[in-house]
Amino acid sequence: HHHVDHATVDKVKAAIAADHTHAHISDYETYNIYKDTGGYAALLTLRDDGDWEDVQALIKESGLRGLGGAGFPSGTKWGFVRGNAGPRYLAVNGDEGEPGTFKDRYYLERKPHLFLEGMLIAAWAVEADRCYIYMRDEYPAVLEILRREIVALEQAGLVPEGYIELRRGAGAYICGEESAMIESIEGKRGLPRHRPPYVAQVGLFGQPTLVHNVETLHWIARICREGPEVLNTTEKNGRTGLRSYSVSGRVAKPGVYLLPAGSTITDIIEAAGGMSEGHVFKAYQPGGPSSGLLPASINDVPLDFDTLQPLGSFIGSAAVVVLSDQDSAKAAALNMLRFFEDESCGQCTPCRVGCEKAVKLMQANTWDQPLLEELCVAMGDASICGLGQAAPNPIRLVIKHFSDEV
Ligand code: NAI
Ligand code: SF4
Repeated sequence: HHHVDHATVDKVKAAIAADHTHAHISDYETYNIYKDTGGYAALLTLRDDGDWEDVQALIKESGLRGLGGAGFPSGTKWGFVRGNAGPRYLAVNGDEGEPGTFKDRYYLERKPHLFLEGMLIAAWAVEADRCYIYMRDEYPAVLEILRREIVALEQAGLVPEGYIELRRGAGAYICGEESAMIESIEGKRGLPRHRPPYVAQVGLFGQPTLVHNVETLHWIARICREGPEVLNTTEKNGRTGLRSYSVSGRVAKPGVYLLPAGSTITDIIEAAGGMSEGHVFKAYQPGGPSSGLLPASINDVPLDFDTLQPLGSFIGSAAVVVLSDQDSAKAAALNMLRFFEDESCGQCTPCRVGCEKAVKLMQANTWDQPLLEELCVAMGDASICGLGQAAPNPIRLVIKHFSDEV
């Protein structure tokens, strides 16, 4: 339903073709620096005489869970993929599209080889025939860095030419849903598939596929180099491990903060330099728009996997957006639903029609709460993928905690 301005599209294409390095490339850790400081030693040792089950045990011991947002135990995933006959593939989800999430970009622009070594270790563990990296096109610097460093890996003989394939996303949020991503890599429209079967069973080109998020692989390399202690020795508020919070909104110093997984919103705002001057903390999005909005009064809960479920929310990719007394919770929720309406792939009715109808209802001065709740139930129960299933969260949480606004 978007109007396409072909003249502008052509101009942009020409500009990209003329200048592949239009991105500002940061001072990142190159292959040579990484290798000279012990990089790829873990991978080479494992390839030499490693046992994949030992590495799996190490990953499990570290407590590493998938950092795309779902928190599925990473070691367990390897077992599922290995349990199915090959050929197998590895697909990296670098389509970091969750609004407010920028941690993968942060790590890739600084230490791309921790990610690449983690990817090759995981590929070795599941005996992947090939690795596909699906990277969002809005990260031109990351794409350029990866292009260069994949060539460096090929020249160093660490991978055969063409073993790692870099694919560019085209800006569709839904292509970050793992099965839609796989469709997109296969050259089709990015429509989520029904599950089961899971991609670990039937993934790319119908074969068992290991899908990991970028940051998950970064930690796999660190666990192999530094031991499981790198994650499992940090304890706070009854939680174990570390989380990379992408913090933005009304804070003094927005950015990526690596903090204990047991951190509360108070700890996170403090790490980000406190509130911006003149702003009073009012609400926060804990993990992307699908996690909705929580009020400032909920400030003693560790923002980790599983802890927000009883509150009707979740931490997801830890995209924390802080709102102040100068922001409207109602407007924020409407903005979230507009986003889902735009990004819905349209394949199932509860989500396609539900998001559109929710936006219309939320534009009213006073929300028709019973009707909205009825809509939320239908969307949550009958949508195929997480987008439609989680879209009700902002609606419900704003009704619950900011009833005076709606
Ligand atoms: P999920 O919990 O359904 O699956 C997580 C992973 O575990 C998938 O790879 C899935 O294939 C695997 N899995 C789960 N059960 C399995 C089984 N029985 N056998 C084999 N494999 C199994 O969650 P989903 O839908 O993949 O992800 C939802 C999350 O994505 C949300 O929490 C949201 O925060 C996050 N998200 C992150 C974005 C980002 O930019 N990082 C963008 C949008 C959403
Ligand atoms: Fe597409 Fe929405 Fe259905 Fe997901 S829930 S498959 S985004 S229409």
